[in-house]
Order: sequence, then structure tokens, then C-alpha cells
Amino acid sequence: MEHEAAAQPESFEERRRFLVRVSAVGAILSSIMAGSIPLTAVLSPLLRRPAPKGWTRVIDDVNTVDVGVPFKVDFVEAVEDAWVESRVLRSVWLYTEDAVEFRAMSGVCTHLGCSVALDTEKRRFHCPCHHGLFDMKTGAVIGGPPPRGLDSLPVKVENGEVHIQYLTFRPGIEAKEAT
Ligand code: FES
Repeated sequence: MEHEAAAQPESFEERRRFLVRVSAVGAILSSIMAGSIPLTAVLSPLLRRPAPKGWTRVIDDVNTVDVGVPFKVDFVEAVEDAWVESRVLRSVWLYTEDAVEFRAMSGVCTHLGCSVALDTEKRRFHCPCHHGLFDMKTGAVIGGPPPRGLDSLPVKVENGEVHIQYLTFRPGIEAKEAT
């Protein structure tokens, strides 16, 4: 008798939990069928894969670029973050000696993430935050606290156009680690 009395509330509790779950699923399905929750809103986070980082055309004609001195290119990139797509202004530094081979460098200081500026007279990049200095051609550190050189970015030339892949890396560490 004691055993039966103890088992009764437990099975009641299990039944209650089961009914609560069934009701919750039923409510969601009813909302979907009634159109108050679009089906895509429920399924799309499960189906969506992160978009691969793409190439961006930053120069239309290699014959128009400055040779032997870095130049900054600004462009707008579409960034998708869960439900929201926004436009973000990006900048990269390009360097070429022959308008054939290009080097692309991030303009973000590897120390704490400030933007570097070109000092053409001294032929180097300068970070105004803590006076980090980088070589103008290679982006290597030549002074100050930055733990590594300016991050190089993938770059390619196709049909006279320059394309880059904009990537970001963790500041403050020696290793080049993508974020
Ligand atoms: S952020 Fe550039 S030197 Fe500190």
C-alpha cells in the first residue's frame, strides 16, 4: 500500500510535465499556422550557415594606382549579424612597386586596435594612440608596443582589378589570430 501511495504523485507529476510540453508545442504550431509566427522565423536560424568571407573589388584599374607608396582604400561592406544586415565602412592599405603584385594591409594597429596613419615623410605608418611604428612597405613593427606587424590581407588582381578579402584579427597578441 505504501509503495502504491508513493508511486501515485510521481506519475501524476510526470503526466503534468508531459501535458505542459504538449501544450507548449501546440501553442507554437497554432501560432505558425495562424501566421503570427512566420515559419521562416522559426526555421531560418537552424538552416542558415555563416556566409563565407567574400572578395571585394577595391580598385577598378591597376594603371591608376600610386606605385612605391602605400595608399588607403575605403569601401563599404555588407555585414550580416543574425537578423540584421548593415553596411560598414572599411579601410585597407595597398602597396605595390609595379602595379602587378600588390600587398594589402589592415590599417588596424595590432596593439589595441587604433587606426594607423601614413607618415610619407618618414616612410612609415604611425599609430597615434601609443606611438606604434610600422614599416611602410611590409607593415613590420619598427617601434613602439605593437606585438606584431600590420596584418596582411588576401589580395588578388583579376582583369586589371584589385580584390581583397577583409578579415579582422585579435589585437594585443603576437600570433595572427582571426576573430
Ligand atoms: S593602439 Fe597602436 S600603439 Fe597602441
